[in-house]
Amino acid sequence: MRVIETVAEFRAARAGAGDLGLVPTMGYLHDGHMSLVARAKAECAAVAVSIFVNPTQFAPNEDLARYPRDLPRDLGLLGPAGVDLVFAPAPQEIYPAGFDTTVEVRGVTDVLEGAVRPGHFAGVATVVAKLFNIVQPSRAYFGQKDAQQSVVIRKLVRDLNLPVEVIVAPTVREPDGLALSSRNSYLTPEQRAAGPAIYRALNAARARFEAGERNAEFLRDAMRSVIAAEPLMSLDYASVADADTLQELATVNGAALASMAVRVGPTRLIDNLLLDA
Ligand code: PAJ
Repeated sequence: MRVIETVAEFRAARAGAGDLGLVPTMGYLHDGHMSLVARAKAECAAVAVSIFVNPTQFAPNEDLARYPRDLPRDLGLLGPAGVDLVFAPAPQEIYPAGFDTTVEVRGVTDVLEGAVRPGHFAGVATVVAKLFNIVQPSRAYFGQKDAQQSVVIRKLVRDLNLPVEVIVAPTVREPDGLALSSRNSYLTPEQRAAGPAIYRALNAARARFEAGERNAEFLRDAMRSVIAAEPLMSLDYASVADADTLQELATVNGAALASMAVRVGPTRLIDNLLLDA
């Protein structure tokens, strides 16, 4: 496994790598990230993982400075997983002095996470477009955990004709249902114990959907009432939206995305489930 910090060196190494799969990450890897690596390993001749805590997707009031980082530990997981190339650039390698360009995906970025985190998805789309240009993967792997991010990246690739196949893989969860996330490391033991309420809330909506409920507001109510009963949590939003446009639905007809964001103390957690008849 080669660990590379500069764009120039990565381009040289990539030239010999053939059919390459890319897993973009911000590091502090867990089994959710590793499931993407395993999928890429199964489907591609060679696998690259990028580790870059992208400053432009954090707002000034967000957790950039305290976002967890542990490169040696990450490399210890990626080596045995059979990863060929790791791209771990410093911020100034990606955003050198004079950097002035932003890639903005409109429409699907105004709602949900985008409404609460203005500028977040422009930061994501910009860094992912750069990573695709630097790494030139045939396929790139993203997690359903960040459902809106996956929608934004599919749209980025379609709108700009980027020659990359986007693959979205299922959310990996703890045994109690909490979706794996690097931000789970912020939780106190008490907050962690409350964590599964998010998945319970999503499952409450799914159970009502599977029982035939198609009124989206009743499905949102099912999520809201589970979180309302959890004293350590406050709800940012509970959404039932069209899975492609992310617009809120009145009635669920096609594929819908049930998603929510919850605050547990200072930590913000997101999760989602697809509702598909
Ligand atoms: P990060 O949060 O590190 O996540 C990297 C990838 O892992 C994303 O595609 C994310 O959806 C996926 N992932 C996270 N938790 C998961 C879980 N529990 N199960 C399955 N997949 C999971 O998302 C980012 O980084 C950044 O925004 C990035 C795309 C790298 C751009 O900076």
